[in-house]
Amino acid sequence: MTPNEIIRLDTRCSPVPTFISEEAAQCALRASTPRALFVGSERSDEFAHALRLASRGHDVIAINPRETPSAKAFRRAGGKFIRARVEDLPPRSCRFDLVCENYPYPSGRHYIPPRPFALARLSLLKPGGKWILVTESPRYASLLKAVVDYDDDIAARFRGTLSPLSIDEAPPSFYPRAKTRFRVVFQRCR
Ligand SMILES: C[S@@+](CC[C@H](N)C(=O)[O-])C[C@H]1O[C@@H](n2cnc3c(N)ncnc32)[C@H](O)[C@@H]1O
Repeated sequence: MTPNEIIRLDTRCSPVPTFISEEAAQCALRASTPRALFVGSERSDEFAHALRLASRGHDVIAINPRETPSAKAFRRAGGKFIRARVEDLPPRSCRFDLVCENYPYPSGRHYIPPRPFALARLSLLKPGGKWILVTESPRYASLLKAVVDYDDDIAARFRGTLSPLSIDEAPPSFYPRAKTRFRVVFQRCR
């Protein structure tokens, strides 16, 4: 599924043409069921979480440029998986109540500086919507929270909280080398 197909998908029950403007898509989304986006999901437990939300009536999409066997299984189970970067979603027409993300790269060649990283996700939230991120990196968690706390433009629209987690409370993953875990929650206030 491509980002443009999302727009078509959300309008499949309405009598509008297949190709619609972003504004029309936004209206269609506003009236829709709660929407959740899983960013960078690879693991079966992440897709199981996505399917649980879908079974409770959420419209759930997972997005990752990497498609793992678990992602393929998610598709076969009826899940919507987009093989793309989250930055590829059209922000004005794709808005979510919940964005979940586990262990983004906190350094290395895939590293994205905190401001563009945060803006790509915050711009997808509906008013009241939350982006919940788990990371092993105290530095990345603090830098992300600082983007929201100290950039006046962003601080006027979003709130952030940062809390340490124990390993047992945090989602499992083979990626983090550090034993520390943090949850950062950002909410769009308006
Ligand atoms: C460190 S891995 C974590 C994988 C998994 N969430 C876990 O907890 O084990 C980071 C994942 O984010 C994905 N990713 C990187 N940049 C992304 C982007 N811009 N949009 C969506 N996913 C991205 C990568 O392909 C990779 O699967």
